Amino acid sequence: MTIEATARAHPNMALVKYWGKRDEQLMLPSTGSLSMTLDEFPTTTTVRLRTDGGPDVLELNGVVAGGDAAARVTRFLDLVRERAGSEARAIVRSRNEVPTGAGLASSASGFAALATAASAVYELPQDTTSRSRLARRGSGSACRSIIDRMAVWHAGTDDESSYAERIDAPELAMVVVVLDSGRKKVSSREAMRLTAATSPFAAAWRESTARTLEDMLAACREGDVTRIGELAEVNALRMHAVIQSTSPSVRYLSGRSLDVFDGIESLRADGIGVWGTADAGPNVVAITRPADAAAVAEALTSHGEVRVVRPGPGARLLEDPADAVPAATAGSEAR
Ligand code: PMV
Repeated sequence: MTIEATARAHPNMALVKYWGKRDEQLMLPSTGSLSMTLDEFPTTTTVRLRTDGGPDVLELNGVVAGGDAAARVTRFLDLVRERAGSEARAIVRSRNEVPTGAGLASSASGFAALATAASAVYELPQDTTSRSRLARRGSGSACRSIIDRMAVWHAGTDDESSYAERIDAPELAMVVVVLDSGRKKVSSREAMRLTAATSPFAAAWRESTARTLEDMLAACREGDVTRIGELAEVNALRMHAVIQSTSPSVRYLSGRSLDVFDGIESLRADGIGVWGTADAGPNVVAITRPADAAAVAEALTSHGEVRVVRPGPGARLLEDPADAVPAATAGSEAR
């Protein structure tokens, strides 16, 4: 029996956003979505089964974590244990190279890596679709980080039918403009609830996203980068519009984020194919062709730290024991 496994996963950036659940318990989204898995900002997670009868422990970036983060991991492991018919608790050591909680989806890479490592040690099915379904239960968008390059998440109607799958698409590059790497004020879970409960535009958002997903799938099949970029920008701005229309209003984009959108628009006026998107945080991501990425990065560097990213790998096990995340240093405290 294996008692330890290590997995690595990368965040993904949605081109058609997931914003709203039809079932919070099963984490079924109200609409499908589509994303690119990135080749930067990985999360590496080691899951080690406990043989001493102790409780689950989460170590995040070398520090023992408590509070919501630890509770979420335990809830996820409870689901894994229920499926595996196991009582074994685990030590989860996770190292993030994503600015946590800044809308760069550290929860996606985190739960994709955790689902992959946990499936190995608890001996659950390890095929891509099973891991995608499982990762979804930790954080919806995590189901897409199981997949390499480009993924569509089929909304589905039950646990079985809601998972992400690889699609073919033209080669893209993204320029991540990091404006703020602090933790966001309102979690996406909370803001999604608020949107469904209070926004007068929630139904229009769902309908428009379902249509946009169909158009985006067609644009990917046709290799039409311009169309992909246009659809992605409109969809992102509609998501931020519906988020702002909640009561009380939630706003993730800052004045500086809007400056980056302006910068992108003026690059477009100069003839460069570039479009903006942003998740539940202030950071803006420019979508472009690989050949234009360096010029876009240079033009946007005055706004914040820029990183050029490309399509990256899906979540996978790391076999080399040297890749295991080391134990937290003695004396690190629970938060
Ligand atoms: O899966 P969550 O709770 O991290 O929600 C992610 C929501 C967005 O990142 C804003 C959009 C998306 O599709 O990734």
